[in-house]
Amino acid sequence: MHVRRKLVAGNWKMNGSRAALAELAPIAAAAREAAGVDVALCPPFTLITLAIARAGGISIGAQDCHSAASGAHTGNVSAAMLVEAGAKLVIVGHSERRQDQCESDDFVRDKAEAALAAGLQTILCVGEVEEERVAGTHCQKVLYQLDRSLPELRADAELVIAYEPIWAIGTGRTATPADAIEMHAVIREQLAARFGDAGQRIRILYGGSVNAANAAGLFACDNVDGALVGGASLTAEAFVPIIEAAAKS
Ligand code: 13P
Repeated sequence: MHVRRKLVAGNWKMNGSRAALAELAPIAAAAREAAGVDVALCPPFTLITLAIARAGGISIGAQDCHSAASGAHTGNVSAAMLVEAGAKLVIVGHSERRQDQCESDDFVRDKAEAALAAGLQTILCVGEVEEERVAGTHCQKVLYQLDRSLPELRADAELVIAYEPIWAIGTGRTATPADAIEMHAVIREQLAARFGDAGQRIRILYGGSVNAANAAGLFACDNVDGALVGGASLTAEAFVPIIEAAAKS
């Protein structure tokens, strides 16, 4: 039996400002109360150092990194730069980057390798589009994507998987607990097949319109080890109840 601590991570996407960092104090207070739950927040790059100064026990991270350590990659940021800025984690392969920046599975795997090598906790995202779910090929799609994006594990940096069905992101539509149980189980099988016992310890987060009303139901599901939260991580009012639901699960 593998006991995995819940992880509740917020992804601010291209939102937030200095003023929004005022939300961190009540989020940090809730995180301190939530025994057994890890809480993390990934604001835009420009707010990382400011957020760290106000984080009070929450891990602060980034929403992307490049696979190279340095070089001619205008507009990009390397994993080493994130570490120097004080980041503890990074999200790679988010569907918005896979779509908007045409990121391939191979590139995402290289990013994940680079992030882990730099010592960052790395949240690797996978998920299917609505047409694939309707066609019943959602598990096949996610396992294919995972197979090609998975990095080698390292002893000194944690890999986390986030299952984020694209049709559920920012839409207010959430996977049902049955949907989440099905997908997280097949992801777990693949992780165990690939990494053996270490695959059982990898946390699998659910993401896609997670909120105060649906979080407890999702956290009760087998192999749902936390959440990657977008819109509801922008304010303490919306994010704290999700942290509390994780603590009660
Ligand atoms: P929402 O919670 O806004 O649906 O976003 C989910 C997400 O993409 C987190 O990475």
